[in-house]
Amino acid sequence: MKRSSFLRVAYFAGFLALLFPPHKLHGDNGYDAWLRYAPLKEKERATFGSFPATLVVRGDSPLLQTSQKELIRGVRGMLGRGLRVEKELPKESAIVLGTLADLHLLAPELHPPVELGTDGYWLRSARIHGQECIIVAGATDRGTLYGVFALLRRIAFAEDLSHLQEEQAPANPIRWVNDWDNLDGRIERGYGGRSIFFENGSVRADHSRANDYGRLLASVGINGCVVNNVNADPRILAPDFLPQLARIADAFRPWGVRLGISVDLSSPKSLGGLDTFDPLDPRVQSWWKEKANEIYRLIPDFAGFLVKADSEGRPGPSSYGRTPGDAANVVARALQPHGGILMYRSFVYDHHLDWKNPKNDRARAAYHIFHPLDGKFDDNVIVQIKHGPIDFQVREPASPLLGGLEKTNEAIELQISQEYMGQQRHLCFLVPMWKETLDFDMRVGARATPVKNIVSGQIFHRALGGFAGVANVGLDANWMGNPMAMANLYGFARLAWNPNLSSANIADEWTRLTFGNDPVVDRTIDAMLLSSWPTYENYTGPLGAGTLTDILGSHYGPGVESSEKNGWGQWHRADHEGIGMDRSVATGTAYVGQYSPEVQKEFETLAATPESLLLFFHHVPYTYQLKSGKTVIQHIYDSHYEGAERVREFVHMWESVRDLVDDERYEFVLARLKYQEGHAIVWRDAVCNWFVRVSGIPDAKGRVGHYPNRVEVKSMQLAGYVPVDVEPAENASSEKAAACQTPASKCAASFHFSGADGTYQLNVQYFDQNNGKAKFRVFLAGHQLDEWIADDTLPNAKLGGDTSTRRQINGVKLHQGDEIRIEGIPDGGELAALDYVEIEP
Ligand code: GCU
Repeated sequence: MKRSSFLRVAYFAGFLALLFPPHKLHGDNGYDAWLRYAPLKEKERATFGSFPATLVVRGDSPLLQTSQKELIRGVRGMLGRGLRVEKELPKESAIVLGTLADLHLLAPELHPPVELGTDGYWLRSARIHGQECIIVAGATDRGTLYGVFALLRRIAFAEDLSHLQEEQAPANPIRWVNDWDNLDGRIERGYGGRSIFFENGSVRADHSRANDYGRLLASVGINGCVVNNVNADPRILAPDFLPQLARIADAFRPWGVRLGISVDLSSPKSLGGLDTFDPLDPRVQSWWKEKANEIYRLIPDFAGFLVKADSEGRPGPSSYGRTPGDAANVVARALQPHGGILMYRSFVYDHHLDWKNPKNDRARAAYHIFHPLDGKFDDNVIVQIKHGPIDFQVREPASPLLGGLEKTNEAIELQISQEYMGQQRHLCFLVPMWKETLDFDMRVGARATPVKNIVSGQIFHRALGGFAGVANVGLDANWMGNPMAMANLYGFARLAWNPNLSSANIADEWTRLTFGNDPVVDRTIDAMLLSSWPTYENYTGPLGAGTLTDILGSHYGPGVESSEKNGWGQWHRADHEGIGMDRSVATGTAYVGQYSPEVQKEFETLAATPESLLLFFHHVPYTYQLKSGKTVIQHIYDSHYEGAERVREFVHMWESVRDLVDDERYEFVLARLKYQEGHAIVWRDAVCNWFVRVSGIPDAKGRVGHYPNRVEVKSMQLAGYVPVDVEPAENASSEKAAACQTPASKCAASFHFSGADGTYQLNVQYFDQNNGKAKFRVFLAGHQLDEWIADDTLPNAKLGGDTSTRRQINGVKLHQGDEIRIEGIPDGGELAALDYVEIEP
């Protein structure tokens, strides 16, 4: 090659490399989530050969400016092309961006085939003045922005745009997220770091995360965000705080996301200095009015308030003998002149219920309190209803209240944050669970009334309604503590937009946007996502019994008995003979009677009740036979073993895409899955051992309580380590742990391998408390095999089911008689405690 042409090629290659850096498979920290705009592959880019170079933007509203910037950013990222912005149509192909009204001025002949609903958009490839154009037109500015994100999704999927024709509008007017952030920066039930909004009692000075959060939310159609904990601090309404909130609203505004806040109903008294917060007191009413006026002076597009009252110790109207309707309407009337909305949560219940009374039932509370108030709420009030009657358990029926309000606006509350679902450490894709509730037919008036069409307002002709999702994102680079957990935020928003999308469809969209279009990657991750919730259910609480987690503490590890004999009412009533809550009308708490007559028939009798909810509705003996022919107790054992086994498969599935996923996310997710593999075994063993002990019925397959490959720490030779109790006992393999307590500063546990020579996997089960960073070392015949620091941030300082953790050491060659020795060096309050070593062939 001649030198000059060589140089030309080299320059060209350099230029190309600038535009399309070589496909890097490392270095993605998850921050961009599903908005990565990663360069498409060469072959995929070919689809966009005739993609326009000009972008015609009609109008100049802030949202249109956002739309323009986003489109340029996405096209540059994925196609490596710039877009020239023009006001008028050029003599070449173009993308035309604006509201329908704007488009009309340019091309009066073009109309969407159907009238677009509020916030809807129209994507179309068509000729304007003889030029091929891609039209992105919104019913509103916000709709135009949604159209841009929809077009960028199509580009990310490498779809041919030449016959583009898509018109969409959201099914629900209310598409809000709730973030339970405290003003001091902690987040209630948040698992992705500290608050992106608050620190030390003030709004953060840096709003970049709030802005980027607004972008993420807008990209999937979310139009409102309540930024503080439902257990609200009255200070949120303080005169010096409101201007700070206005800055968050400013960060959201370019994305069409409106700011909302949770308020404490006692604020007129606790903050305002009145001697009452009785909603019917005129002074209280004018306090709320003035407060709303003050807010709207600062934040003209303020979305509204969210209220949790008379619940879990929160103040509420019951203090004055008033109803939720009285309270809601008073606050709503203050917001109404400004177009604000009042979301009033139906999560109202007595947490001091008498557990000895078999007729008591927390599940009845929401319907019992709110159904009689139907029709008594003002038009700008929405009753926000948790999807099930208890509290985000791994399986619950649809809340009867969802079918119990015909003259009241409703929103369904879903929890994106995995409070009871493995707290983002476990893979648990919640869309299939949510869809069960959304598709559930309440049969109100003996006709088809699926939950999704009730909350949207469609069935009972309500102007307002929709979805609220508890998101709890944090300052972690990947927002939720795990890139995989973002599938739930994505899925929630997509369902709020269109609840008819299938779980498979949503999973696939998310996977492709997050990891690219490689079919192997997509198939693998989709399969993991779609089976993750049933898997989690299997190794935690099957048959509708509840999650069986520690409900008095972290809501994370196993705690089968924690729900019983207390007033919280999350009872499963397992005893020596059987398990389950009898909620039937005939013999139980009569909860079933809160459903429509047709639905009552589905749940009233044992025979008719779907087995997935059997123990939610009925108390049965452990020997009760399921349709599979298995007894309930054997099902409990089997499902726990199956669930834990399936997580092991997840690890293998993930390993199969090692070279197809960037290193950073690959390693991160792998570590989480391996952790989950170990923790699923902790769950399996704790639950199964509890049931063996209480029922006295052994596992027919002989697995529970028999672990032939395990060497319990109590049978090891201990130097310094002492046995300590674990509470509850079944959360440790031999009911006790060995801890390295003062005065010891280093302890050891050793044993001799008694199996056949071969290569094994060594699993060291230890406790990773969150109050120190203990060190562990493992020696084989005097040589160090492995060492690690127990510095994970699990939700407990105690030894138990939250902290029990597994270290896998693979490919260890063992000879009979080899000494295996584990050294632990405690740190702070962390005792370098051990449970057992399992030696797997
Ligand atoms: C759950 C959760 C609480 C939360 C409450 C609520 O009980 O554990 O942290 O405050 O729900 O939804 O209000």
